Amino acid sequence: MGQEESTPIDEGASPTTLESRTLDGLAKHITSGQAKKIVVMTGAGISTSAGIPDFRTPGTGLYSNLARLQLPYPEAVFDISFFRQNPKPFYVLAKELYPGNFRPTVTHAFISLLHKKGLLLKCFTQNIDCLEREAGVPGDKLVEAHGSFATQRCIECKTEFPADGMRRLVGEMKVARCEQPRCNGLVKPDIVFFGEQLPESFFRNREVPYQADLAIVMGTSLTVQPFASLPTFVGEGVPRLLINKERVGGIGNRADDVLFLDECDKGVRELAKACGWSEELEEHWGGTASKAQPGTTKEKTKTMDEEVDELSREVEEALKLNASHQAWVNGELSSKDSKLAEEKQKKQVESEVFGEGDETKLHESRKKDSQDAKGENGATSGLDHVFPHLGKKSSL
Ligand code: OAD
Repeated sequence: MGQEESTPIDEGASPTTLESRTLDGLAKHITSGQAKKIVVMTGAGISTSAGIPDFRTPGTGLYSNLARLQLPYPEAVFDISFFRQNPKPFYVLAKELYPGNFRPTVTHAFISLLHKKGLLLKCFTQNIDCLEREAGVPGDKLVEAHGSFATQRCIECKTEFPADGMRRLVGEMKVARCEQPRCNGLVKPDIVFFGEQLPESFFRNREVPYQADLAIVMGTSLTVQPFASLPTFVGEGVPRLLINKERVGGIGNRADDVLFLDECDKGVRELAKACGWSEELEEHWGGTASKAQPGTTKEKTKTMDEEVDELSREVEEALKLNASHQAWVNGELSSKDSKLAEEKQKKQVESEVFGEGDETKLHESRKKDSQDAKGENGATSGLDHVFPHLGKKSSL
């Protein structure tokens, strides 16, 4: 699923920095003081145990569930051109994902504990749920690469929209409109949609992985660029730990890579235990429960499947109600075989938003193998203008 390096996997190679390619080996690296600048890179998999579905896991992921609805294709929910035509499906999703509804997981608490111990250099997250912040990671340690629900603005005149008004409207599943006289543009949270530029903080911090003395990648399929390239910019000989249900991004190919292919929460608990931090971690996580605002925390009595079913019904309902959506779909699909037209539509939007070579914008990885392998070799990856330090790699 994620981008795999084309270099043969050498999981048996002896480490050059670590004593062993295990969590114990990593724990020694940390507790001996060799890891003081830890860079963490995260995705939706760190929030699934909080009850938030990830995107791409077959069956439970948001995209496979949205696929059974009437969206032209699941990613359209985060597509700016589709949003202009029909913002309703995104607002339905926003209600489901809105911050305040979920408690940070023990994995979020682990990241925050690293900060508390003065070991966190930076946490790059693709998540829009703000749970790193809620767990106590301060804003200056966070790069929210795909934006967040923290602020929102008009997509036309860019005027910011008040947070309390947005929360109320999302709660009522009503689409927010710009309050500027004569504007009336659609308002969306400052989440990066496909085809949009990443936030300035991503570009300001893109060289930070070079400075890391340990990288921890958790809960991401590493399929969305330019984020997916970050782990390849960690220096040679610097340990990289992947905690994920599946192997992604070619992590495991380097001599000091460690793989823990299981639940994120289990992985951080085992690492904390090996570091002698178990009690501290659980205590720290316990503190996140009391911060949950009464009345806003969802009672997670439903299974994730029931949650997604409910979301699906809401989306279906919203789509039925929304005449502009029908007009848009009908216009695109009219008088053609619907499957063929749908394919054409998808290709057209893909080339508009992902395919025109602007790598500074959010897009799905395409040539995964070759791209990542080139990055690992320090040669150009086609992302040079996003990561201009690529060429410097061999000199560092
Ligand atoms: P994905 O859904 O693509 O990947 C989640 C990864 O986490 C997968 O590899 C899962 O196997 C793994 N996973 C899920 N639950 C886990 C758990 N409890 N423990 C360990 N691993 C687990 O999500 P992202 O990589 O975050 O963009 O997706 C990247 C971007 O694609 C998102 O930021 C989103 C989407 O389009 C926007 O929101 C704009």
